[in-house]
Amino acid sequence: MNPYILLLSIILFLSCNQEKPSNEHEQQIESLIRQMSLEEKIGQMTQLNITTIVQDSILEDYGNVSHYVLDTAKLVALLQEFHVGSFLNGRAVSPENWVYVTETIQNVNKQHSAIPILYGIDHVHGASYLRNGTIFPHNINIGCSFDTSHAFLAARTAALETADLGHHWIFAPVLGLGRAKSWGRFYETYSEDPLVVSRMGVAAVHGIQDFSATTPYRTAACAKHFLGYSDPKSGWDRSPAEISDQALREFFLPPFKAALDAGALTIMINSGEINGIPVHASHELLTDLLREELGFQGIAVTDWLDIIALDEMHGIAENEKEATYMAIMAGVDMSMVPVTTNFCVYLKELVEEGRIPESRINESVRRILWVKFKLGLFDQVLPRADRLDRINSPEHIAGSLQAARESMVLIKNEGQVLPIRDKKILVGGFTLQSKVALCGGWTYRFAADSDRWFPEDMQTIYDALLATFGESQIQLLDENRLSEQARWADVIVLATGENTAYAETQGTIDDLALDAGQANLIGRCLDTQKPVVLILTEGRPRLIPEVEGAVDGILFAGLPGVYGAQAIAEILSGAVNPSGKMAFTYPKRSGHIISYNHKKAEYSSIRPVSEELQRYSIAPFGHGLSYSTFVYSGLRMDTTFSDPSLPVSISVEVRNESAQDGKEAVLWFVSDLVGSITRPVRELVHFEKQLISAGESRTFSFELIPERDLAFPDKLGQQLLEPGQFRLEVGGLTSNLYYRE
Ligand code: GLC
Repeated sequence: MNPYILLLSIILFLSCNQEKPSNEHEQQIESLIRQMSLEEKIGQMTQLNITTIVQDSILEDYGNVSHYVLDTAKLVALLQEFHVGSFLNGRAVSPENWVYVTETIQNVNKQHSAIPILYGIDHVHGASYLRNGTIFPHNINIGCSFDTSHAFLAARTAALETADLGHHWIFAPVLGLGRAKSWGRFYETYSEDPLVVSRMGVAAVHGIQDFSATTPYRTAACAKHFLGYSDPKSGWDRSPAEISDQALREFFLPPFKAALDAGALTIMINSGEINGIPVHASHELLTDLLREELGFQGIAVTDWLDIIALDEMHGIAENEKEATYMAIMAGVDMSMVPVTTNFCVYLKELVEEGRIPESRINESVRRILWVKFKLGLFDQVLPRADRLDRINSPEHIAGSLQAARESMVLIKNEGQVLPIRDKKILVGGFTLQSKVALCGGWTYRFAADSDRWFPEDMQTIYDALLATFGESQIQLLDENRLSEQARWADVIVLATGENTAYAETQGTIDDLALDAGQANLIGRCLDTQKPVVLILTEGRPRLIPEVEGAVDGILFAGLPGVYGAQAIAEILSGAVNPSGKMAFTYPKRSGHIISYNHKKAEYSSIRPVSEELQRYSIAPFGHGLSYSTFVYSGLRMDTTFSDPSLPVSISVEVRNESAQDGKEAVLWFVSDLVGSITRPVRELVHFEKQLISAGESRTFSFELIPERDLAFPDKLGQQLLEPGQFRLEVGGLTSNLYYRE
């Protein structure tokens, strides 16, 4: 096929099929807009934090808030004068308190407007701002499960526990790539790989947004943070990123396109800048790309304080009014202001001065009203106090526990030190008795500063090990008695990593290395000559180079959630067969931190290249051990194709040669050996996880569509598929594939 005709067909294929408002909704929207004053329209574009409508007494000690009391005078003033259309966030309070908050807001609003309020909340790993909400593992764990059903279930559970509280907008999923390993939001990403992020993100969108008649909730998802937020040059949150247009399109855009194609109704904008242009001021990204090219019809909301940031953080606007002008003209629909009403004042002035046409305002108001109609808020917006019994139900808890079980990665298991059976275990470590360490940020509050915010009955790792192995098998490590205790113990288990909850800039660090105190304890335990197993609970891959080669076992637990300790103990005891695989490259040293899909020249300075992974990563992307032994054989596929639109069928046998049932994620990689734009050395093109019973075989098959799976974009987004040789690899088996026109 002529490559240019191919290009056209691919472009048509990639053009978005974004949902548009129905005729009925369009008529309702236009009718409302005709009746609305400019102030009312601008109010719909305004989102304020809950702190703007609570009593002063709450604000005086907001750090300890555990119950909200609204100041209805403040609320009435904001509605009467500014017609505010959206509020957001809060802290973990009881379901009943949330019902009071949202019911009051909506009832007071009804006295001033026919347009319901849209309430947004960061329920990013379960209903995390709800005292008894079901908390799931964070996304980095979900990605390591290589099973999208966990992403779906985490999102659906959050929606089920959120919507009845009167919150109809969940600020999830995060669709950034986990490439900056020290970034304070690394744990909010699913993976360093765009395919994993895309598929997990689509599953999350489907979990949050389900408009089928039988679904008892209506919530909007929020694909964030559009675009290129996750790869700051310095690794520090909200610091500048330099990403070429071509890389932006090849690696960072696909998850957002997938989420929008899946129907995500809103996006949240990246606070940072790309190549010198803050995204909140980028017409190219927010209008040309998001609207014209991707066809997005929903709401583009700013991130926190990000219009003001164009002045105060980025310095591209002289003042807040100019910043407002830039953001609105770039394509922002709603401002998460979030604690003043300046946005309303300045935007009204800009329209009255004729600098911003009212037609531009109407454009955003249409999108906002469409989402509110789509969510059915005009018909049912009040919380449902009669349906709170599903919160933290046994079914929801089971979903979180299973996600934790299947998302941890057994990185190392020398001498089959795991599972531990009939052994005396000395347990210690920095995170052994920390609840915060299991859940990370966005749990009950933005960054919980202590265990006091966590459920009384939540197990720490220590609790779970005692419950699983029994007190007679467990001794708590006392550093002053280490030698004596080591003589008693058969094995030493150290819970290691991070035990502070951090989020955003609070998570900024200047050294990814594990702190010296922990490294020292590991070293002392190694000196006892007893086997040492590390459990890593952390939001990002802390470096453990000096000890990684000496310890016997390493379990990457990540941030496994409120039920994570139980899952850790079950894996250590063998009750659960670990099945997670690294969804990111776990670096060994700080000097060279990259992702698996790096370019060929990345290692041009070292030889032999084949040793690259051993030298530079503790666990490469896709690595993960099991208690089962999986053997791959019989890779079958065509070796040439000429029509890129036709599938190339590929299959492989995987046999479980152990006596233990186990789940195996089969990862299919492709290498494009020659490309007019340098190609990643490997790219994941498919993954599938299945249970394989002991002694059984299972055939995994995959239909590779060349124009979908082998093409890559140029800097203008045109998909290129070039004749030549490709290599497919699955489970260490490889086969060549030739594109011959
Ligand atoms: C924060 C985060 C964003 C979150 C929003 C509302 O700054 O960047 O992810 O949804 O503000 O809390």
